[in-house]
Amino acid sequence: MTNKKIYLLYPKKIGIIAPEIYGHFTEHIGGVFYDGLWVGKDSEIPNINGFRKEIVEKLKQIKAPVLRWPGGCFAETYDWRDGIGKNRPTRLNWWTKWDGRYESNEVGTHEFMDLCEMTGAKAYFAANITSVNALHIQRWMDYCMSPKGSTTLAKEREENGHPEPFDIPFWGVGNENWGGGGNMTEEFYASEFRRLNMIMKTAFPGREYIICGSDGEDYAWTDGVMRGVKTAHYKPELQGFAMHYYTGLGADKVNDNPVDFGKDGWNRIIKKAANIENVIKRNWNIIKGHGLACEPKLIVDEWGCWHRDGSGPSQGYNLFEQQSTIRDAAVAALSLNVFNNHCDKVRMANIAQLCNNLHALFLAGGKNCITTPTFHVFDMYKEHQNGQCIETLVTDNGEIEKSVSVSASVKDGKTTVTLVNLSCEEDTEITFASLEGIIPQKATGKLLYNENMCAHNTFDNPDAVVPQNVEIDVSKPFVLKKTSILSIEF
Ligand code: AHR
Repeated sequence: MTNKKIYLLYPKKIGIIAPEIYGHFTEHIGGVFYDGLWVGKDSEIPNINGFRKEIVEKLKQIKAPVLRWPGGCFAETYDWRDGIGKNRPTRLNWWTKWDGRYESNEVGTHEFMDLCEMTGAKAYFAANITSVNALHIQRWMDYCMSPKGSTTLAKEREENGHPEPFDIPFWGVGNENWGGGGNMTEEFYASEFRRLNMIMKTAFPGREYIICGSDGEDYAWTDGVMRGVKTAHYKPELQGFAMHYYTGLGADKVNDNPVDFGKDGWNRIIKKAANIENVIKRNWNIIKGHGLACEPKLIVDEWGCWHRDGSGPSQGYNLFEQQSTIRDAAVAALSLNVFNNHCDKVRMANIAQLCNNLHALFLAGGKNCITTPTFHVFDMYKEHQNGQCIETLVTDNGEIEKSVSVSASVKDGKTTVTLVNLSCEEDTEITFASLEGIIPQKATGKLLYNENMCAHNTFDNPDAVVPQNVEIDVSKPFVLKKTSILSIEF
């Protein structure tokens, strides 16, 4: 057993934790929508306006703040006109080559916005900048956001059942334009961004415009696009830099068994996930170094574990569907702690993806619908949303220590602390200390723990990993078992 001291440095405030840090990514890929989130209005499966009722309710429970749509790579060959009105065409899409599936367009702008309106999540649209022209993007914005009765497209929206404009505060200018979104160079993309940003912000000022950011540690992209967006004549309206960071891609993805791993598999994934903190800091420094007047913040647009394919309930039918264990929950808990602790830099973060894909919160198919351990992390962490993040420090014998991840925030007079023991071998004794001496005796919260770090929920055993309620006297040392995740409030 090791001993850690966790200092809650109350007077030192980092900033307000934007609720959007707890955001989600919903792409038209594999089983995210069809037979995942969406079952259709005529389905026997309980649904609200075609979306699984259970998922709509659980998204409200975790206060899902934002949903990014329609991709991902899918966005870059998406034609919004296919997804409105009565006669919707079936199309090839960006992913057809990988899974042989076609897009029915049953879920389009109105259905997606319905999901946002039902759950209270804000909408973040990714515009196609690779295979349509600027006017096409502007017309989508016009259709969605022009006032009732104003333009021909606003009237068409009304005919399709939504007289009032849709509220879409976030607009991504492309997706992964260094790769699937057109294989552009930094210089070329920056110039495209300037051109499109001008059209978009002129039509609809006051939205948050998001530039395609880097993949993993590609800092040359960060530097190149930031250098390129600024010209003598043009001042970009740019609020977010959308970095993508996946844990487990490349060699790890091939070797990594999502549900059967040992100490090495645990440590490799945790180490890669923890590195997101360095990526955040370096990207931030590069962006700051370019001194843009609009001061863009970081959007961790897509993040999460990307294991090898085929371990989910559909056994490979749904592209990139994977099971999610205690290890994935630990990665989620660690990443959210990092985002909280850098909330002065991070404006939004969207875990990829919400259902039946990569680091999912839900696995569903037919009548089955279960939550993964990662869903429980989002539920356990939700009180951080809009909290004032305070600095924390973990030490072991006076040395700064990284094997316990922690973040803390204060809201309405209550402190929320979330911790993860990142060791899969050793329990640790935790002692809280505060410079202001206000550690109370009683804290209540939830603990997510299973003695098997490969434990996960299945359709047959949906509650193998669920949190338990705990009450802890935090004025005294207490034990945080290996791999466990704890959220407490006092
Ligand atoms: O999340 C799956 C895919 O991963 C997205 O479409 C793309 O943006 C990323 O490469």
